[in-house]
Amino acid sequence: MHKEDLAAWEANATFWDDYMGDESNFFHCDMVRPQTDNLLQPTANDLVLDIACGNGNYAAWLAARGVQVVAFDYSPTMVALARKRRAAYTEQINFQVCDATDYDALMSLRQAKPFTKAVANMAIMDISDIEPLFSATYAMLAAGGSFVFSTHHACFTYPNGNYFTSAMHKGVAVEGQPQLQCYYHRSLQELLNLAFKVGFVLAGFHEIPFEHDATPIIMIVKLTKAV
Ligand SMILES: C[S@@+](CC[C@H](N)C(=O)[O-])C[C@H]1O[C@@H](n2cnc3c(N)ncnc32)[C@H](O)[C@@H]1O
Repeated sequence: MHKEDLAAWEANATFWDDYMGDESNFFHCDMVRPQTDNLLQPTANDLVLDIACGNGNYAAWLAARGVQVVAFDYSPTMVALARKRRAAYTEQINFQVCDATDYDALMSLRQAKPFTKAVANMAIMDISDIEPLFSATYAMLAAGGSFVFSTHHACFTYPNGNYFTSAMHKGVAVEGQPQLQCYYHRSLQELLNLAFKVGFVLAGFHEIPFEHDATPIIMIVKLTKAV
């Protein structure tokens, strides 16, 4: 399963990078980023972990605001494209290839000082097993640090009418992408109870619909590590 999702992202990486470009798309810029910024409150004093960073669009947005970033993705092709596209920020963004399902690999991303914040934009639903990620992110954050993630809204985007059953299904993020990608549905209680189990506290929540829609398609969650 995991090999299959990585193979799809490897196949889609160049298409994704071309499509997202330097500035990213409407979905990211207008629907994801504003409330992510609002919850993350990035400042020039932050060291941020950008989880499953894609072509580095949010890492570059942070770097342009003076933030130091460690950004990782498990697709080597995606990381190579991100490094190339964000060459102006080599001093501020440390791009790494790392698998978010591998606890030890995640812990190797630790820097001399702890991360003050972590962010995962529209990626939790792409990751086959999020327990290692939640545990390692909690371990690597400074006390008082926050983890903000956006993902498919658990309550409104699940396949086959079976909300409570965690399941993989295939879909597209962008029309025309070379391969279908794997999505991993989890109920809201599964996601949040995992966060609580590793020690996080729920500190913020937004639900975002497409313009003029009554049903949210995205949810953005802020978790914090208590001081
Ligand atoms: C929908 S893209 C979002 C990329 C970026 N965060 C953005 O907002 O533009 C999802 C990303 O998750 C990455 N990904 C999926 N599973 C992963 C894993 N196990 N470890 C690291 N990255 C993963 C993919 O390679 C892809 O770049």
